[in-house]
Amino acid sequence: MAPAVLRPTPRLLATLGSRALTAQAAVYTETGNPQDVVRVVERELPDGPAGLAAGQVLVRMLAAPVNPSDLNQIEGTYPVRGRFGPVAVRGGAEISAAAGGNEGVGEVLAVGGGVAAVRPGDWVVPRRAGELGTWCTHAVAGADGLAPIPRAWREGVAATDVACLKVNPCTAYRMLRDFADLRPGDYVVQNGANSGVGRAVIQLARHWGLRTINVVRDRPHLDALRQELLALGADVVVTDRELGEDAARRRLRSLDAPVRLGFNCVGGRATLQMTKLIAEGGTLVSYGGMSRQPVTLPTSLLLFRDIRARGFWMNRWYAAAQGCREREAAAAAMWQDILRLTREGVFATQPLAAARWTPDTPLADAQRLVTAAVAWGAAPKRAFVF
Ligand SMILES: NC(=O)c1ccc[n+]([C@@H]2O[C@H](COP(=O)([O-])OP(=O)(O)OC[C@H]3O[C@@H](n4cnc5c(N)ncnc54)[C@H](OP(=O)(O)O)[C@@H]3O)[C@@H](O)[C@H]2O)c1
Repeated sequence: MAPAVLRPTPRLLATLGSRALTAQAAVYTETGNPQDVVRVVERELPDGPAGLAAGQVLVRMLAAPVNPSDLNQIEGTYPVRGRFGPVAVRGGAEISAAAGGNEGVGEVLAVGGGVAAVRPGDWVVPRRAGELGTWCTHAVAGADGLAPIPRAWREGVAATDVACLKVNPCTAYRMLRDFADLRPGDYVVQNGANSGVGRAVIQLARHWGLRTINVVRDRPHLDALRQELLALGADVVVTDRELGEDAARRRLRSLDAPVRLGFNCVGGRATLQMTKLIAEGGTLVSYGGMSRQPVTLPTSLLLFRDIRARGFWMNRWYAAAQGCREREAAAAAMWQDILRLTREGVFATQPLAAARWTPDTPLADAQRLVTAAVAWGAAPKRAFVF
């Protein structure tokens, strides 16, 4: 990769004067394989309100996960593109880079003039994907891009629970609620059932009296995963290989209640097999494409079974919520609900491997931990804990 230093920033240095804190941030100067293009840089940020412009907020990040969509964004294959712009790095130079990470939680350290919506000590999450760049120890952001998490909501939950709230649990929540009129005892079938979204589907479905058929990929130690998902509340756990066998298909086609809804984050053959379990008039909701294979459905499923194929994207749902009072209230109620269920032990955030990263982490060590965390297929999922 070409050296990224472009030009000095006297403006920034003048703004900071002598009061600055040194933050570290994971950025990328070009799209590509995340392990190749993500670089950790040091940045000098104002250490208090005096250095902040009106409307700005200084945030100390607490935790931020590495989601598949973050990696897609760095590859340049995600519809929300990284925002490339000048990033002032320590030593007085600027690079043109985009900041990594879309989800996470931080604590407000200081606010600039005119900021009333958040105060020092508040926990905040980014309102929109692609804005904050959450893989950093500290950031300066516009207050209007940050949503505060009321203190009562965050009580009794970990920072990682809040960091992972906005995307996966909410995707599960909306998909279970918005696509079918489900009745207690109905089945939902899903693939990628051990993913973050899949685990959230299992737990919320169980809580709401629904039953789940969960498809996972074959693996060594399959039984351990099966037991883990059953303990979360799964009713059936089956591998995509087993789903291709007559015995399993027959068993799953003669359940005592219909499968009205299917959730797909894989694509290809795994999706086709799963869709065959969905009852007449039922809905297949695709929300991811981990296999990078297209969703192909035979005409017969559409014609004779009237299966509806839909898509869901949490970002689109949040975008539609902006400025719409009813939706904003629904989003707040959903976040509050999930955090309450977390506090009460009904809901658990997916297992995460914590990558501990502080402003004092030597730069080379920070680079190593970030490079490891942005590998595709890192299991369990990595979360930076600052
Ligand atoms: N539409 C939305 O709004 C929305 C929101 C959240 C997430 N998503 C998408 O949902 C998917 C899951 O996200 P997550 O954060 O829950 O994931 P995650 O926790 O990182 O888990 C990844 C899942 O993908 C499976 N997987 C990985 N590579 C695969 C392949 N080649 N073929 C089949 N399965 C594969 C993994 O199964 P193994 O254990 O077998 O590897 C695991 O179940 C991603 O595609 C993500 O972008 C979409």
